Parts: sequence; C-alpha cells; structure tokens
Amino acid sequence: MDQKEKVNEPFDIPVAERQYLEDQSPKFNKILIPIVPVLLLFFSIMGFRLNQNSKLSPTANINIQDANNNDHSILGHLPYDEISKEKLVVIEPNIEVHIDMRESLLQMKEDAKNDGIFLVFLSGYRSINLQEEIFYSLKSIRNQVATERARVSAPPGYSEHSTGFAIDIGDFNKPETDFEVEFENTDAFKWLKMNAAKYHFKLSFNKNHNNVDYEPWHWRYEGSIEALKVFEASNRKLIKTKKNFEN
Ligand code: DAL
Ligand code: ZN
Repeated sequence: MDQKEKVNEPFDIPVAERQYLEDQSPKFNKILIPIVPVLLLFFSIMGFRLNQNSKLSPTANINIQDANNNDHSILGHLPYDEISKEKLVVIEPNIEVHIDMRESLLQMKEDAKNDGIFLVFLSGYRSINLQEEIFYSLKSIRNQVATERARVSAPPGYSEHSTGFAIDIGDFNKPETDFEVEFENTDAFKWLKMNAAKYHFKLSFNKNHNNVDYEPWHWRYEGSIEALKVFEASNRKLIKTKKNFEN
C-alpha cells in the first residue's frame, strides 16, 4: 500500500475490521430502504389525523376540554377556596362580603339610590357548609339529580359566594323578581347593566354560559388583584370559549 492509498483509508483501524465495516453498510441499506416508505406512510396518516382534530367544530373542542377536566371543574363550576374570616366584613345584617369590595359595593348602592334605583343585597358570602346545605338539601327536596341542581346552584367548594366576592342583588320595588330571571326586566337590573362595570362588578352567569342557567341577579367583584386571581381561571375559560366560537 503506497502513501497515497493510506491517506484515503481509515488506516488507524486494522484491515480485518475495515472489511467488517464495509460489509455492514449494504446490510443496513437492505433494512432501511424497505422501511422508508412505511415510515412516510405512517407520518402522513398521523399528520392528517392531527389536522382533522384541529378542524373540529367549536362545540366539539369545548366538550373535549370538559371531558379532560383540565380546569378541575365539577358540573361546570370551578373550585373556589373559602375566604379567611379576617377578610370578611358585615355590610348589613346577614350580609358579609370580602373587605376588598365593601367600599365599591356600598358606593354602587348609594349612586343607584341617587338615580332613583333601590338595590337590595340578597346574599353575599356563603360558607362552604351553607353551600352544602343549599346544594344537597334543596336537591333532595326538589327531587333533582346533581346535573340539574348544578344549573342553579354550585356544589360546596365550587361557589363564587364562598370567596366573599359574589353578591346577589334584587330590586327593592320588585321583590317578586328576587332570584328570578324576570329580574332582568327591573329598573335595578337595567341600571346595573349600564353601570356595574364602573364599580368593578360583572355578571357571572350570562345567557351564553354553557352549564349554569342565566342569573341576572348574581354579580362578582373583580376590582382587586386578589379578586382577579380568584377569577383568573374562570376568565381564561371565558376568553377561550369566546375564541372557540369566533373561529
Ligand atoms: N347560584 C350560583 C351558581 C352559586 O350557587 O354559586
Ligand atoms: Zn349568587
């Protein structure tokens, strides 16, 4: 072997092994060449399936998300911790709320009164124990299954009321509409619809809600960082749902 040949060969490997390595290459090709079309077919089928999934209708996307329960919701209600006692304040007999929203809520009531509208606070903070009573006792008395009951009442541990940031509001002049959809026809509701956002209140269960019936009387406060954190998952879900319907 002259010097020129040596340069082009792997001369640091013994000759016997060089032969062995040369033999491997054609064998490897024999295996690989028939596999390539199979792999190409596999990846094109997978690509097609992924593409089909992304074209599912908006409703199908929402159902898949609910079925996976990524947000830990139960019957359409997200989980909420109970507010700590030191953050609760009494604003009226039998009405307690989170201290963050006291001022804004009372100001809203006062300003409504100045416009000739008399708001009544029907229910504020409710403990998880009370929510348990409301959910299971009434469910039983009304002979309702859990899915039916959950359309009007959150299971214990899943109510916005336990956070102290939710308030049910009625019209002083129309007590017969308390906790009824007809509340939406009262002057109180019309005023709230026009003005509540100024005081950082937002309707929690509007007509488009998937799992809970429309509750024009139930408002939640989003005017502090703590409140925004509490409702972050809910707002993210709403934004996601809206996006799905827009696509
Ligand atoms: N009525 C609402 C859903 C609640 O119970 O929190
Ligand atoms: Zn409520």
